[in-house]
Amino acid sequence: MKKVFKVKVISLFPEIFPGVLGVGVIGRALKKKIWSLKIFNPRDYTTDNRKSVDDTTSGGGPGMILKADIVGRTVAAALKGIKVKKDYSLINLTPRGKPLNQKAIKRLSKKDGIIILCGRYEGIDQRVSDYYKFEEYSIGDYVLAGGEVASQSLIEAVVRLLPNTLGDKESLKDESFNKDLLEFPQYTRPRIWNGLSIPNELQSGNHKLISEWRMEKSLKLTKKIRPDLLKKYKKHKTTKK
Ligand code: 6GU
Repeated sequence: MKKVFKVKVISLFPEIFPGVLGVGVIGRALKKKIWSLKIFNPRDYTTDNRKSVDDTTSGGGPGMILKADIVGRTVAAALKGIKVKKDYSLINLTPRGKPLNQKAIKRLSKKDGIIILCGRYEGIDQRVSDYYKFEEYSIGDYVLAGGEVASQSLIEAVVRLLPNTLGDKESLKDESFNKDLLEFPQYTRPRIWNGLSIPNELQSGNHKLISEWRMEKSLKLTKKIRPDLLKKYKKHKTTKK
């Protein structure tokens, strides 16, 4: 039997899913059972009549914190039936996490599945993340109202790397971050649009010239937009030789 990449998401807003994950190549992969999605709502693991999931922050301050006992039971439910824990990654999405990058996405795509914890309100009692040893990731230096949108971008990035998700294997080759370089710009007909023409090199039919132009564009773009990446690229290039 073919292996299904299992995604389990812990979220107070199950109605946000599958969201963007239900359309396009990712949605098709879901229908084809290349991956599966299950949402666990902490609200379903409450014990009081009011189904309360949060409480005031210890030490005082604004905002409410998701309770450790409730979220803990939800994590336990998501972990149920998983035989080998090391074949899964536990991801806590929080603005406090390490920056998420393509290297981490690649590593996650080789697992049997992932369990993602989406924070809301001011946050989640830290003991849950510590106890279950969640890896903490952030998707950028800005603050979202919750981890749900972050989780959908992470899942989309992981699923497109799964075998058979993308039709054309070539499309994974040249893309940004694969080689610590930004991808070169691309064009298609019409040849002239609003007075702007497609670069001559790309219309030359000379494959060597085209790949040299693309490489030069990648390098220049990376130098201008992401000098940090260019440094990494040059370092890798010299150590690989
Ligand atoms: Cl993962 N969560 C939230 N709430 N905000 C973020 C984020 C995650 N990454 C960047 N900002």
